[in-house]
Amino acid sequence: MIGDSASTFQVAAGSNLLQAAIEAGESLEYVCKQGRCCTCKVKVLQGEKNLSPPTASEAQRLGRDKIKRQWRLACQSRVNGPITVSHRVFLGGQGESSV
Ligand code: FES
Repeated sequence: MIGDSASTFQVAAGSNLLQAAIEAGESLEYVCKQGRCCTCKVKVLQGEKNLSPPTASEAQRLGRDKIKRQWRLACQSRVNGPITVSHRVFLGGQGESSV
């Protein structure tokens, strides 16, 4: 990990968080868009209640503990109001850091 970024943006109700981030020009990384790789993992800083409930993929990949600590998979999350998320930027395929 050689970088860290935090972003705040608003999206239309029901939008997929990853798609909204891509459309907003955010540098959020992703690979599968299907809840399998965890590359799109984000930390919800504000507005957690404005996200759809965690999907089965998120529960399986992230586990209850990370979900409780407000980590989500952007590709599996739908936004129903204003939120603020933070995501780490990895360069050179370094992978995820532990949370
Ligand atoms: S892009 Fe792979 S889990 Fe979201």
